[in-house]
Order: sequence, then C-alpha cells, then structure tokens
Amino acid sequence: MQRKNDHIQEALKQSFTPNDFDKVRFEPVLLPPVNVDTVDLSTRFAGATFPVPIYINAMTGGTDKAKSINESLAALAAKFHLPMASGSASVTLKDAASTDSFSVIRSHLKNGFVMANIGADKTADDAVKVVELLAANALQIHVNAPQEVVMPEGERDFVHWAENIMAMQQAVNVPVIVKGVGFGMTQRDVRELKALGVKTIDVAGSGGTNFITIENARRAHPLDGLKNYGFSTVESLLDTRDITDVDILASGGVRNAYDVIKALSFGAKAVGLSRYFLKLVIDYDLEQASAILETFIEDLKKITALLGVSTIAGLKGLPKLYDRSLLDFIDQR
Ligand code: FNR
Repeated sequence: MQRKNDHIQEALKQSFTPNDFDKVRFEPVLLPPVNVDTVDLSTRFAGATFPVPIYINAMTGGTDKAKSINESLAALAAKFHLPMASGSASVTLKDAASTDSFSVIRSHLKNGFVMANIGADKTADDAVKVVELLAANALQIHVNAPQEVVMPEGERDFVHWAENIMAMQQAVNVPVIVKGVGFGMTQRDVRELKALGVKTIDVAGSGGTNFITIENARRAHPLDGLKNYGFSTVESLLDTRDITDVDILASGGVRNAYDVIKALSFGAKAVGLSRYFLKLVIDYDLEQASAILETFIEDLKKITALLGVSTIAGLKGLPKLYDRSLLDFIDQR
C-alpha cells in the first residue's frame, strides 16, 4: 500500500515543461467570427454526453491519503460535471478495508460519470467486482507494461493481456475504455484494440507524469536509459489520426487549456488530466480549486472562439504547424 503513497509523492516532484504540445501552433485567425458566450464545449464518448471535454484521469485509492484525495477530486468532478476515473481498484480485491477509499468517489459523485480502473492483468470477475464497487458508468482498463518492467515487484507475463481485455469487455455491462499510463500508442496498437472490440481508447502519451521515472525512484539500481521510452501524446494523436470508428481520448502532459484545445484539434473527443488535478486538490481548498477550474473552462471557450470555431467538432483538423521532427518520427516507420 506504501506504493500508492510513493506514486503520489513522486508524481508531485515531476515537471512537464517543455513537452511536445509546445511544438504545435495554430494558424492565427485575424477576424474570428465567434462570440465566446456561444461556444459549446460539449462532447460525447463512451455512450454519454458531457458539458466540458476534460476528465479527471485515473490516480489513486487504497490508503487514507488516497481517500482524502479521491474525496476532493470527486467534489470537484461533481461541481463541474466532469467524468472521473478511480485509481487502480485491484487493491480492493485483496484488501476489503481499502474499499471506502474508492467508494467515497461514488458517494460524492452521486449522479456523475465514474470510471472504475483496473489493470489488463486482471480477470473478467475482477472487472465485474470493481464496476459494482463504484457503481461505475464505464470500466477503464490500464495497460502499463513499461511501468511493470521497471517496478521492482512488477508483472513479468504479458501474454494474456489482450485476452483479458476481451474477457473483461464481455463480462461487464458498461462501456470499456482502454488507456496506457503515459507511454503512448501507435496506429498498430489502436487497430489491435479495435479488433478486440474496444470502442474508446485513451492514447495516454508521454510528456507528463512518467511512471518509468516514478518506479526508478523505488529501485535500488535505476533503469535510467528507458526514460525517453514511448510516443508523446501529440505523436500518438498524429499517428492515430486517420483511424475511424473509435473514440480517441488523449492524456499525458496536459498542462493548461491550450494543450487541451491542441489535443482536441487532433481529433480527441475529450482530454484527461491527472497530475494537474492532483496538484489542484493538494495545493488548494475546494473553493480556490473551483475558481481555478472555472477559469480553465472559460479559457477553453475563449481559445475555441479565438480559433474561429464554436464547437469541439469544429476544432478537429484546424490548420496548424508543428515541428517537422514530430512528423519525421512518424514517417520514418
Ligand atoms: C496515475 N496513473 C494511473 N493510471 C491508471 O490507469 N491507474 C492508476 O492507478 C494510476 N495511478 C496513478 C497515480 C498517480 C499519483 C498519478 C499522477 C497517475 C496514470 C494517469 O492516469 C495518467 O495516465 C498519467 O499520469 C499521465 O497523465 P498526466 O499526469 O501527465 O496528466
């Protein structure tokens, strides 16, 4: 259980500046024909409609500290109608005493959209249990081989993960979202998940919280060379941009409203933030955090209007410039 608190501690030490979002720029629009007050930020994924295109991505549960963080996050989610994911709930399968650090999310978010999170190493039965525990609206399955490889006590056998995802999907009666944990995805990965029947995929790229760095801090002899493993969120979005019939979500290294708009312009239906929300509830009380989040949402509207469109769908495919290096990386393959 100490691991959960270590993750929070180590995540807070990291900084996301700069990252690949800085390599993307929009064409300026001199005369944007839009009134900020008419901007509609609503979006749809996993069979539901949301007023704002951001969500609180998976983080924690299992300790007293995690319980209080989940309580604050859920209070914010309730206030702003944001979807919220729990941290990995597999701990509740072994330790019944840890359940209230998760169920506290549902108690604060009575009518909200809750995603129960579990790893791809788990079984269909496990998935059903965590969905029940949270009365979840969706199951979020994390696929975290890079983290397991670096984690001293990590999983070594990844052979059945694809089968597990399929079995979990068949067993639960809610939509399934597959996510990474900050190392990105390629079009090959997304096509593979699509073939398994997955309809909502969070590419979860690098550029933000780095679980190789976090797990390295817990090792006697760090595997330092792996630090730049993976695809950034922008690279993942670029690589998967032509894939249809699947809802792409984006997360990893999202620092501000402009990063959110950039991810949406690459076709993401919504954008997940973890460390941003963690810091918000750790550094501020609910009232202060709410004021900051209100400004964030207002900024999403203002930037959308600045770019000359008034809907999230309008952002998709807007002309932009990005460093040739981002495309070179993808074209090389
Ligand atoms: C995470 N993340 C995570 N993801 C997951 O699927 N299950 C989990 O239990 C956790 N635990 C966790 C703890 C803490 C403290 C952090 C900060 C993050 C990963 C998270 O959902 C996300 O993929 C990454 O953090 C990248 O997003 P940010 O932090 O760059 O916005």
